[in-house]
Amino acid sequence: MDKKSVLLIIGGGIAAFKSLELIRLLKTRGIGVTAIMTKAAEQFVTPLSVASLSGNKVYGDLFSLTDEIEMGHIELSRSADLIVVAPATADLIAKMANGLADDLASTTLLATDKKVLIAPAMNVRMWQHAATRRNVAKVTRDGVAMVGPNDGEMACGEFGPGRMAEPSEIAAAIEAQFAPAARTLQGRKVLITAGPTHEPIDPVRYIGNNSSGKQGYAIAEAAVALGAETVLVSGPVSLPLPPGAQVMPVETAQAMLKLCEEELPCDIAIFAAAVADWRVAAASDEKIKKTGSGAPKLDLVENPDILKTIATAKSKRPKIVVGFAAETENVIENAKKKLAAKGCDLIVANDVSPASGVMGGDSNTVHLVSAKGVETWPRLSKRDVAQRLMDRLAAMLSAT
Ligand SMILES: Cc1cc2nc3c(=O)[nH]c(=O)nc-3n(C[C@H](O)[C@H](O)[C@H](O)COP(=O)(O)O)c2cc1C
Repeated sequence: MDKKSVLLIIGGGIAAFKSLELIRLLKTRGIGVTAIMTKAAEQFVTPLSVASLSGNKVYGDLFSLTDEIEMGHIELSRSADLIVVAPATADLIAKMANGLADDLASTTLLATDKKVLIAPAMNVRMWQHAATRRNVAKVTRDGVAMVGPNDGEMACGEFGPGRMAEPSEIAAAIEAQFAPAARTLQGRKVLITAGPTHEPIDPVRYIGNNSSGKQGYAIAEAAVALGAETVLVSGPVSLPLPPGAQVMPVETAQAMLKLCEEELPCDIAIFAAAVADWRVAAASDEKIKKTGSGAPKLDLVENPDILKTIATAKSKRPKIVVGFAAETENVIENAKKKLAAKGCDLIVANDVSPASGVMGGDSNTVHLVSAKGVETWPRLSKRDVAQRLMDRLAAMLSAT
């Protein structure tokens, strides 16, 4: 394989120091790096450090006569196989979303015809601000890939999403971009369900479960990162909305099925929601009062089986249907039975017994069960499970 090269744009954030480690990692993987630093970035790391580690000249001035003669800014924007923005500041993302070009970094991003990968890094409030949400959604819709940000403690002392992905994660995302073209979902539609459902007993009580929605939300992020039109039908959860995905909130299993059916046709459907198996036959319109003469009797009826309904649909069946099996015992055996019973193409099985820490946790050990057999993945973060799964599904789709 030809040696790949990255044009690394370093923005002006605290995380700029991590870009030095990123350059080192890329070089050890045989990936060439040329860097552009914004004026603000120079407040955090020196061009000398970046030049020494990359072994290449560092660019920064749009109007430098010598640079423009040596390598014009348009040529620079197309000189590498991939453009990586790390750290991608709120400011740089805003410029990208709006097509601004008032310095070398933003001009290069507007002039390039190459794929762009951003690693956002900012204070949690900046990341959650409506303007940043809009800008991130815009750039991902434009086909920009994204790695991170992660949850964690910030340099400013606050905690939450906004911390730049670790250099090793960014390096892995860069290598994924260089992988064969199968790993793209540009022009494809992916439907994902996530979270629990709440089945009302009366206006203030419901039947629910402990699903956090984290795995389904991570899958939605991974689908967006591969360029898919991503629809996330979500039960009640308290998670930040994945940028770039169209999120449709629902409460009940019946509402979830209806929305899923309305979103067909799609290329891939992934049912990661923990749908309640039963609902109360006739939920009370008024709050049920304690009578002092024992507990009320609740008549339960079965909820629709969303996975089976979509996987066996006579028309508009998605090309690939994936179910999740949350089990507390005989995980693989039960997943095999589920694969056969539901008519789906793949079951992602995981152990959700309390000792596993999967429910609500940030990592997962999954087994992929298909007609071809069982593949067990090591314990991974839910984000890594999501990225690997979407990579796999993209490859399966391109082979159909
Ligand atoms: C100490 C310090 C740390 C900063 N860290 C960040 C950061 O992590 N992310 C961010 O988006 N902006 C951060 N900023 C603000 C940016 O530096 C500022 O918006 C700047 O204009 C960004 O320029 P650039 O996008 O051209 O690099 C920080 C500012 C200061 C003073």
